[in-house]
Amino acid sequence: MHGDHHELIPAPRGLDVRDPSPGHVSLDEDTTLDAGPGTEGVARWLRSELGAATGFPFPPGSGRRGIRLRVAPEVEETYGPEGYRLSTTGSDDASAVVVEGGSAAGVFWGVQTLRQLLGPDAYRRAPVARDRRGWDLPPLTVEDGPRFGWRGLMLDVARHFLPKDDVLRQLDLLAAHKLNVFHFHLTDDQGWRVEIRRHPRLTVTGAWRARTKWGHRASPLWNDAPHGGFYTQDDIREIVAYAAERHITVVPEIDIPGHSQAAIAAYPELGNTDVVDTAALAVWDTWGVNPNVLAPTDATLRFYEGVFEEILDLFPSTFVHVGGDECPKDQWKKSPTAQARIRELGLADENELQSWFIRHFDRWLAHRGRRLIGWDEILEGGLAPGAAVSSWRGYAGGVTAAEAGHDVVMCPEQQVYLDHRQAPGEDEPMPIGYVRTLEDVYRFEPVPPGLSPEAAAHILGTQANVWTEVMENRDRVDYQVFPRLAAFAEVAWSALPASAERDFTDFERRMTVHYRRLDALGVRYRPPAGPLPWQQRPGVLGRPIEGAPPNV
Ligand code: ACM
Repeated sequence: MHGDHHELIPAPRGLDVRDPSPGHVSLDEDTTLDAGPGTEGVARWLRSELGAATGFPFPPGSGRRGIRLRVAPEVEETYGPEGYRLSTTGSDDASAVVVEGGSAAGVFWGVQTLRQLLGPDAYRRAPVARDRRGWDLPPLTVEDGPRFGWRGLMLDVARHFLPKDDVLRQLDLLAAHKLNVFHFHLTDDQGWRVEIRRHPRLTVTGAWRARTKWGHRASPLWNDAPHGGFYTQDDIREIVAYAAERHITVVPEIDIPGHSQAAIAAYPELGNTDVVDTAALAVWDTWGVNPNVLAPTDATLRFYEGVFEEILDLFPSTFVHVGGDECPKDQWKKSPTAQARIRELGLADENELQSWFIRHFDRWLAHRGRRLIGWDEILEGGLAPGAAVSSWRGYAGGVTAAEAGHDVVMCPEQQVYLDHRQAPGEDEPMPIGYVRTLEDVYRFEPVPPGLSPEAAAHILGTQANVWTEVMENRDRVDYQVFPRLAAFAEVAWSALPASAERDFTDFERRMTVHYRRLDALGVRYRPPAGPLPWQQRPGVLGRPIEGAPPNV
């Protein structure tokens, strides 16, 4: 009767569709909204988003037709704080939609399910013509809760700046997929994107570059237009608050001690001035691993403490990401200052110098009630005591960290780097990296086999990562991220069977409805049949070089 409306993504734990009751369940202009204690923010979201799509006002109260939102301890006991129970009941003259959550977050995820049940038009920003029965709901009960507490997307806004409105839209897309962590990669060699009041040149100078490599790093082409941009502190506060209303935590990343050329271009004294003329450095205009890393001096530590003080003021997240990836040691090997530091601290080598950096900020953050997370290179030279690890070079770093009792977010590049191509061949726009199809992402397993139960308990969850070297705008980001983020969301949320037994055919069947939701949202996803002609940019732009490593 209701066709495909209950083709939910991510799949819920339990869905029980009852025989159609007498009467029916439906939303209309008289539908009331009764928000229990703690659910006022969810009600605000519902009125704003479902109000726009339906044109209905959802006045407060409990009328003949009503939506009721509640925080319910028994749901929390069974399905956790993010779990929910959604039930719809109807009789001849009344209908009720009840969403009970283990917390306000659970209620919010339940309301996301309600939106999916209402059909693709529930994702529009204004009502479209439809018949009177357009907002019917099937009589059903959904009981649900997530597999993992960390279900994330990392977005790199350093390689290409994504304007604030596009970031807010990305948060809407995460919420629609029940993803709850937005890892915000704010700094890199190619740009510094967050205003730091005590170090203004980070954005005055560091947010802009004169030109940009166009395509893969071996491409001979340049885009000669200046590129850049940054978020003011008020922009960041707005982004964080917008995310919080959607029960998404924004985890900021300030990448140290590598990936720092934009900062060094702004403040040359941060670099290894005894081996390079850092005053001659500009914000980087091409891709790859950059040799210009921070100098291991007290002045650098003080500078970044100042940066992190402002970051902590802006971002309430417990976890703060300090990067730590891809820090070449060549300059430290040549630098008398770095070598003196190694001797003075009694360190074995440059890897331990990197650990010294990270340990400093591990302690510094812990003193302020926060926790450090870094890419898996922070394992080299010894892991800081409180550190958590983003395992990106495969499972191995995450396994080592989890077995040593550290928390881990699994995000191996072989599986969930969404900048990587989604089909073989040269038709993908700027194809880079490993081929990872929608099905490959669907079959990704965040907990590696063979991990002991104690170690597995340290896998906080998983995130997909999106590096934007070859994504110069929101359309390109959409294309790389969707539809694969839908498969990823199901991996992160749903209790799926072992990888090989997953029912990809059923997922694809549900996706036929989900594509219509994405259409209503205006998402420019990769069509199932492959890129449309206007999406292709074949040739020299992106073709990987034979034998080169699979990153850009
Ligand atoms: C990374 O991909 N460099 C974390």
